[in-house]
Amino acid sequence: MSKKDLRFNSKTIHGGQHPDKAYGAVMPPIYQTSTYAQTTPGGHQGYEYSRSGNPTRTALENALASIENGNYGLAFASGLSAMDAVIKLLEPGDEVISTNDLYGGSYRLFRRVFEKYGIKFHFVGMQDINAVAEKINNKTKLLWLETPTNPMMNVVDLEAASQLAKKHNLLLAVDNTFATPYLQQPLDFGADIVMHSATKYLGGHSDVVVGALVVKDKELAEKLYFIQNASGAVCGPMDSFLTLRGIKTLHVRMQRHCENGEAIANYLAKHPKIEKVYWPGFKSHPNHEVARKQMKGFGGMISFIPKGSSFEDAVKIVEKLQVFTLAESLGGVESLAGHPASMTHASIPKEEREKSGVVDGLIRLSVGIEDVDDLIADLEQAIG
Ligand SMILES: Cc1ncc(COP(=O)(O)O)c(C=O)c1O
Repeated sequence: MSKKDLRFNSKTIHGGQHPDKAYGAVMPPIYQTSTYAQTTPGGHQGYEYSRSGNPTRTALENALASIENGNYGLAFASGLSAMDAVIKLLEPGDEVISTNDLYGGSYRLFRRVFEKYGIKFHFVGMQDINAVAEKINNKTKLLWLETPTNPMMNVVDLEAASQLAKKHNLLLAVDNTFATPYLQQPLDFGADIVMHSATKYLGGHSDVVVGALVVKDKELAEKLYFIQNASGAVCGPMDSFLTLRGIKTLHVRMQRHCENGEAIANYLAKHPKIEKVYWPGFKSHPNHEVARKQMKGFGGMISFIPKGSSFEDAVKIVEKLQVFTLAESLGGVESLAGHPASMTHASIPKEEREKSGVVDGLIRLSVGIEDVDDLIADLEQAIG
């Protein structure tokens, strides 16, 4: 059986992997080297300098391609540097349409770094794909979307977005950080590029900062490899090893994240002191049907607003949590809580973030894989 034909839960372990050529090591060695001996100028064994390529990074890049059903994987120093490489495919004057509810750092990269090089970004609520069509003009080159979005858990129809992108000859890039390929594989819906902050669920243990891109098309892959090497924001060998190790348990962790997420979403929804819970698994979620169509489960990311909650009330709750750690980031085995208005989304102007629902009282949970009763007890004591 070819490794390409493996099911997802086997691909996380075996996809793109083979024993190391030197001694048959089953796990890829950490090739902690910047350079490689040559017998004659250009006479090397496939690697000449670790910015251009490193065997541990290759093992990770092959695993990434495998789990996202792509042909080419690229590993970067962070999620944002992976995005940076995608935007560098564009020219001054080009336009991008992005989800309006996206990670604050992604927004900052677009507005504060790339806008000054003449690239224009439009931020649109994409739950209704027609809103995207209205913004397309002859300068539009890229649709950038997150689904589910961070932190409002909106779901964008990947098939509809892909049809729209194809009709107008646009690239479609999907930030798949929240869902992971365990829940959805955007390339299968027609996306051109999948991006990850592998810092999150793929790494899974909050011990690395890593980014990833996966594509199917050879020409696009070559352009991105050129940018990866030319700009140089590559993932180091140690981080490649740790991310690979994380990927091997992705399916088991995600199963538990989904179970715990569901239990906590239901607990919060029934709580008399909670006004609103955002989680795509609820039948009442505006895009629940789309989520059911394109996702295998609904994940462990949940946002909620306590009743009448102000900035200070939300801060008090997150400060009281003891099993949930108050911290940036998400997707690790441990549960984290965050206050988007002052943390992950502080780089988006208040007016702009409130338009997409990121109000001062909003709290975001990354539900980990601890015993769910401990997590619920912790929320109970913090919400009061
Ligand atoms: C959805 C999403 N995309 C991108 C990023 C950026 O990734 P990194 O922090 O690895 O640069 C994050 C980080 O929080 C994120 O949550």
